[in-house]
Amino acid sequence: MNIRIPVSGSVSWIGANDRRKALFENVWPLPNGITYNAYIIDDEKTALIDTVDASASGDFLERIEAQLQGRQLQYIVVNHMEPDHSGMIDALTKRYPELRIVGNRRTFKVLESYFGITRNLVEVSDGDRLELGHHSLRFIMTPWVHWPETMMTYDASEQMLFSGDAFGAFGAFNGGIFDDEVHLEEWEDEARRYFSNIVGQYSAMVQKALAKLKGVPLRIICPTHGLVWRSKPSVIIDLYDRWSRYDARPGLLIAFASMYGNAEQMADYLARRIAEHGIRDIRVCDVSTTHLSFLLSEIWKYRAVMLGSCTYNNLLHPLMEQLCSKLTHIAPKNRIAGAFGTFSWNGGAVKIIRQTYEALGWPLVAEAVEIHGHPTPEKLTACDALALAMATADALTHHP
Ligand code: FEO
Repeated sequence: MNIRIPVSGSVSWIGANDRRKALFENVWPLPNGITYNAYIIDDEKTALIDTVDASASGDFLERIEAQLQGRQLQYIVVNHMEPDHSGMIDALTKRYPELRIVGNRRTFKVLESYFGITRNLVEVSDGDRLELGHHSLRFIMTPWVHWPETMMTYDASEQMLFSGDAFGAFGAFNGGIFDDEVHLEEWEDEARRYFSNIVGQYSAMVQKALAKLKGVPLRIICPTHGLVWRSKPSVIIDLYDRWSRYDARPGLLIAFASMYGNAEQMADYLARRIAEHGIRDIRVCDVSTTHLSFLLSEIWKYRAVMLGSCTYNNLLHPLMEQLCSKLTHIAPKNRIAGAFGTFSWNGGAVKIIRQTYEALGWPLVAEAVEIHGHPTPEKLTACDALALAMATADALTHHP
């Protein structure tokens, strides 16, 4: 799309939509695609903020040339070295041999390891500035949002923040690039899924980054994925603040793993009993048919989680094991929990789910329930105390 898309001042969006990649990082599904946002500043000095994934670069280099109309690209600011943003640095250094690369000490270690680039480097530290003319850039170190070298770039003249992965979302653009060009309520799910899958593990570092931004006037936020926030930047700041504090809405995710339907029957029974108490925000998911990506997003959405599994060779069903392992790794906080499961000879699944909760610090609302064999109506009544405790928990009933 070789047209100029102005953002503010002499800054234009020059990113790419990617609707071909099936899995981001070869892990996370992209049913709605993804964007790689880069920004070009055509000032007295010229600069590019980040690049795009090489696999979706298309006519990226030609578009830069068209925007600069014969001028040289003088700087590239590297806020983040993950290849979805650094993928075109090597090509740019070949096309513009005098291009100066702006990054921090950690940026350049990764840059050398990926591309062997060691020259024309401009090393910056927290608070350093780069004057382009009208645009005055200041660098803010925000490590681990999302990699250790991550930084943000603040343009004081336009009160714009080039934020890297922070404030990003999954989803390619459907024409609308700015927050005032879309229905925001349709967009939030993909933003939360992106946060929980990619950045949520580093929530404490997101909080540190937000603290650093406190008091900085932010008129426009330009992330590397998803919408450019020029009308209501406070919406995405508030959401990232809430998500990184593990603040969730009242509601329950019931995720189950079931070989032959027994654990699934328990999940449905529990959901029904809880719904009978007037709880509406319940989501029941089969871990075998719902990708981990969406399960994590639901866990970031709701304050209560119930995991249930059949016992599989004395352990968890492999896909429940994957979910529990990931949860232990990324360690979301402030959830309440319930556990259930089935077994055919020896038990085991429920014990491992309980151990997962212990590691996470999630309290059980009631005793876990484990059923031997087929869950007959009589056996299912063993779930009633768990259903009642969950249905009457503050996490489901209290709407702040
Ligand atoms: Fe969008 Fe961490 O890269």
